[in-house]
This record gives sequence, C-alpha cells and structure tokens, in this order.
Amino acid sequence: MKIILTGTTGFIGTEVLTQCLRNADITSIVVLSRRPLPNALSADPKIQVILMKDFKIYPDEVVKQLEGADACIWSMGTTDAIPELEIDYPLAFARAFSPTLVGHRRKFRYLHTSGVLAEKDQIKSLLFLQEGRRIKGMAENEMIAFAKDEVHEGGWETYIVRPAMVLHVEGDMLKRIGGYLLGTVKVNELAAVMIDVVRNGNEEQILQNAEIVAKGKYLVNAQ
Ligand SMILES: NC(=O)c1ccc[n+]([C@@H]2O[C@H](COP(=O)([O-])OP(=O)(O)OC[C@H]3O[C@@H](n4cnc5c(N)ncnc54)[C@H](OP(=O)(O)O)[C@@H]3O)[C@@H](O)[C@H]2O)c1
Repeated sequence: MKIILTGTTGFIGTEVLTQCLRNADITSIVVLSRRPLPNALSADPKIQVILMKDFKIYPDEVVKQLEGADACIWSMGTTDAIPELEIDYPLAFARAFSPTLVGHRRKFRYLHTSGVLAEKDQIKSLLFLQEGRRIKGMAENEMIAFAKDEVHEGGWETYIVRPAMVLHVEGDMLKRIGGYLLGTVKVNELAAVMIDVVRNGNEEQILQNAEIVAKGKYLVNAQ
C-alpha cells in the first residue's frame, strides 16, 4: 500500500508516520512537508519526502510522485484555524491528485484530522471559539463534498476523525485534567485508528472521539 501523509513534523502526524513505518502492509510513504523530517525518519527507504514550496500548487513532477497512492492521512492543521491552511490546502491536494484516479477501479481513501468541536453548520451561533469551529467544520464539508464530485468517477472516499484532547502515551496529567469536559484520546490509539480507517474503511464517515477511543484501544491491544 502506498500512502500520502501530511503534518508529519507535528504531534499527531509523527505518531502516524511512526506507525506507518512499522506496518508491513504499507510499503511506500510519501510525505508532503514544508520542512525536512529528522534524519532518523527520512533515512528509512520506505519514505519519500517532498518539500512543498506552496501547498496550493502541485507541479506536475510532484503529482507524478503521488500517482498510485491508495490513501492519504491529512494531519496538517492548527488550533488557530486559518482558512487557507485548513480548507484551501487539503482542497488543492484533492484537486491536483484526483485526476490520477480516473480510469482506475480502486478507491482512494482520504482521512482528514478535524477536532471534537468542529461545527459543520456555518450559520449556527456558537457560544465560544465560533470562527475556528466553523472553519474546521467548513473543511469537513468541503472534503466530504469533494468525495461526491464526479471528476474522479467515484474513486474518492473521505473520512473525518474528530479527536478531543490528544494525549501522549504516558504522562500529560494537566491535559488529562483539562480534557475532563471534552474527553481525551491517546495519540497512539488515534494514529492506529487513522491508519485502520484508510486501510479498511469505516461504517461511519465521521468518527467521534468515543468511537476513536474504543476502536483505538482495541487496535493497540491487538498489535
Ligand atoms: N493535539 C490535539 O490535542 C488535537 C486535538 C484535536 C484536533 N487536533 C487537530 O489535529 C491537527 C494536528 O494537530 P497536532 O497536535 O499534531 O498539531 P502540531 O503538533 O502543531 O502539528 C501541526 C502540523 O501541521 C503543519 N503545519 C502547520 N501550519 C502549517 C502551514 N502553514 N503550512 C504547512 N504545514 C503546516 C506543521 O508543520 P511544521 O512543523 O512545519 O510547522 C505540523 O506538521 C490540527 O488540525 C489540530 O487542530 C489536535
């Protein structure tokens, strides 16, 4: 399986990359990043790192390197919820890559990292963090709508994960307390779920935190 990853220099993306490297079914990993990965990771023969100058522009030689991929895990993003980063970048990827799916019968699975507070309803009034929650929700809407676009002849599936507060495997006592209201999930369990979804699909298109926790514990215990 060939997989495209973003956000691999970040907290969640690093764990996704680490687990992809351990997974024997994943034979090729293409990383889209604005800066190099630590040598210990990028030296792995499974990995090819493409340093992007602009995440809205995909030159032909970049698209060629992405061709043949079966899945993408998009872990790029911030809590600042900047529209260009959250919405334009994943859409630019989708528009640049999806023409390579035409004429192939297989499905491409795209998994988008959103958050527990994302709000898909763009006119609903929210008591707190309104702008950021709407932007995260708008990104979800766009990527779900993209899966219905005829341009890729039904070859694209979108999934969304909505983790609550993501914890390191050990420690994080303050975050655990902070996550009391919204919930928490361990980063290794989240990453295991993200990889499982792009490999095997999932009944629900949007995975809420409770489902991620339950599925993640099961997958990690089975490893
Ligand atoms: N951590 C949590 O508790 C949590 C909970 C729920 C949802 N989420 C969501 O999950 C996603 C990832 O979170 P994280 O905790 O892994 O964040 P993180 O550690 O800050 O990592 C963010 C990643 O996105 C990349 N990135 C940020 N701005 C960029 C830009 N303008 N252009 C290109 N790349 C950019 C970073 O690259 P550089 O290293 O080059 O900056 C990094 O790889 C975010 O959307 C976040 O909102 C996180």
